[in-house]
Amino acid sequence: MLVTRTESFSAAHRLHSAYLSEQENKELYGKCNHHNGHGHNYKVSITVEGPVDETTGMVINLVELKECIWKYALDGLDHRNIDKDIHYFERGIPSTAENVARYIWDQLVSHIPAPARLYEVELHETDKNYVIYRGS
Ligand code: NI
Repeated sequence: MLVTRTESFSAAHRLHSAYLSEQENKELYGKCNHHNGHGHNYKVSITVEGPVDETTGMVINLVELKECIWKYALDGLDHRNIDKDIHYFERGIPSTAENVARYIWDQLVSHIPAPARLYEVELHETDKNYVIYRGS
């Protein structure tokens, strides 16, 4: 059985790859490469998979899942500058939706209360763009 919890957070970033020149970054990312950055109201849906517990009738306690999502992933992202405040991105990894989803996955994967396990991270950067990461 799959269970999903959706949360939202706001963060700033700038798309810029350390592997590309200034000019290549500008051409690739356009206005998202603007030097002073910009913000997004992100929405993230975390899906866990597991058996339905016979006693509780639940795969996971959603309050516990919500706390886990905030403690291990979103507290560090909300109202922050992703590129400057998150160690993972300081090395120059571009803070695309793909990489932010992977970061959230990495933060959560070992903290989901068993027997449930992390199944999917769906990250909406805007109303029009979203990515889905299932660990590969
Ligand atoms: Ni952006």
